[in-house]
Amino acid sequence: MCGIVGYIGEKKTVDFLLDGLTKLEYRGYDSAGVAVMEGKNIFVEKSVGRLDSLKEKLKNKTLNGVIGIGHTRWATHGRPSDVNAHPHTDCHGNFVVVHNGIIENYMPLKEGLIARGHKFISETDTEVVAHLLEENYTGDFVDAVRKVLSLIEGSYSLVFMSRENPDVLICAKQENPLVIGLGKDENFIASDIPAIISRTRNTYILNDGEIGIVKKDSVKIIDRQGNAIDKKTFHVTWNAEAAEKGGYEHFMLKEINEQPKAVRDTMSKRIAKDGASIILDELNWDKKFLDSINKIYIVACGTAYHAGLVGKFYIEKLARKLVEVDVASEYRYRNPIVDENTLVIVISQSGETSDTLAALKESRRLGAKTLAITNVVGSSIARQAENVIHTWAGPEIAVASTKAYTTQLILMFMLALYMAQINGTIPADRLKELICKLKKIPAQISETLSDVDPIKTFARQYGFNEDVFYIGRSLDYCVALEGALKLKEISYIHAEAYASGELKHGTLALIVEGVPVIALATQKSVYEKTLSNIKEVKARDAIVIGIAATGDTELEKYLDHVIYVPDTDELLIPLLTVVPLQLLAYYAAITRGCDVDKPRNLAKSVTVE
Ligand code: AGP
Repeated sequence: MCGIVGYIGEKKTVDFLLDGLTKLEYRGYDSAGVAVMEGKNIFVEKSVGRLDSLKEKLKNKTLNGVIGIGHTRWATHGRPSDVNAHPHTDCHGNFVVVHNGIIENYMPLKEGLIARGHKFISETDTEVVAHLLEENYTGDFVDAVRKVLSLIEGSYSLVFMSRENPDVLICAKQENPLVIGLGKDENFIASDIPAIISRTRNTYILNDGEIGIVKKDSVKIIDRQGNAIDKKTFHVTWNAEAAEKGGYEHFMLKEINEQPKAVRDTMSKRIAKDGASIILDELNWDKKFLDSINKIYIVACGTAYHAGLVGKFYIEKLARKLVEVDVASEYRYRNPIVDENTLVIVISQSGETSDTLAALKESRRLGAKTLAITNVVGSSIARQAENVIHTWAGPEIAVASTKAYTTQLILMFMLALYMAQINGTIPADRLKELICKLKKIPAQISETLSDVDPIKTFARQYGFNEDVFYIGRSLDYCVALEGALKLKEISYIHAEAYASGELKHGTLALIVEGVPVIALATQKSVYEKTLSNIKEVKARDAIVIGIAATGDTELEKYLDHVIYVPDTDELLIPLLTVVPLQLLAYYAAITRGCDVDKPRNLAKSVTVE
């Protein structure tokens, strides 16, 4: 998630730009830049790395301009570098733009612009917007911006500056946050309230489709058709710390609620327009390549490992390729049977986990083909793997991984479909049906997030238990493992996940009166078996909370409580059942007064063995 700032007024814009970007550093970034109107020209300075590198480049520059824009980049398209940092300009430096989000149709637009003589210098999707503005500008800045917005598809917040219009900034919002701060003879633009809260608490919170025309002494909001919008101001009452969390109490809750957008972003550009196939431009695999692979390893740690277990199901079921999943700390010392006919997929949110990186290096030493699935562009794991596919979850700040997990599941599902397309192991109608269901997942996650009260109640009721069990079969078992980890790592409750068919082989001895058991029962193919396991634990007077798909009327006949998630294909339902488990862990940790975002003994990225 990138950081955006803009200023227009009577003071030195560069002071606000750097201060505002500093306030947005918590969001995570890999490069930064500013553009300042100096006299008749726009001065642009950018730097890969931390803000200090940018400040170092600026320290000998005299910048008195009173209008400017700035950006901290979280790379999605194009590695972190000076050139790929924002702001981006057109061929002649007449227009500059900063952007947060993804321009889904940037490639065809870029090809057309190059064919018409435009020269590109970066690998980013954003630079396309600056050249489109150049091409569509006929003297009216607002009209040109509206025309550009009609040409681009995707999610974005954008701020534009024009050399010929030095008295105005124009901003546009589509699925990425953007606020306008209202000052006296000065106005501010930012992707997030923390950047402006020290200057003003009066704001316009832009909605999708709205365009801001920001001058130092006026702000006009219009829609895409140019019609004026009578916008209500929003007075910010949050303190700075609360503002960083977007009004949520913790980053973890903010990130749980960001999952619909993170999943939608990660899917974007990867589903064909006709909805009939998956597109993974990052891979140019063909049948010959897949036929040469006789074994696939998925290697990861923690939550990423749990995503790998789901990925195994997907690839074996859909692409009919043999998959083994292992935790990186075991795999790397096991002298694994790996050769040039092995594909090793490593999954890592941070891209810096030491064990996973070591497993990747060992796999390459043994001659394996390697693919990384990671959330951080330019990370060590991204750079070491032959192929890399990125989740586009945006920075994940909380130690407990949530939106990274669901975006990893989405990518594993799309990878399995992509492989099945190549292998011819999925009928076209089934492929289209699964893609249609896949596209509904973001809205279904939102629906699941819309009713948290029952989960809060359970967390308060059972949050003081010292032992909790999670049970499930098939994909429900994979999600049970993730649910147990979430509860353990942030509430410090001892939680164990068990394949429910395995309980009677020992663990059932621990299931006694009053022990909370979370039973996932969404996998239709093993539903009856799961139901009998649930009856086993009920017969020992456990307190059982069921997780079921809407429409299941059987489970509530036997259970104390049932949490329902929207029904979908049993392959996709892990993306929904994990959400109540994330929330259960979160509210249990709150009940116990734990430090949710920074749990004891844990680090966000485990860069040591
Ligand atoms: C997840 O909630 C944990 N914080 C932890 O297990 C994490 O998933 C693991 O350390 C792997 O991290 P990575 O995805 O950055 O490699």
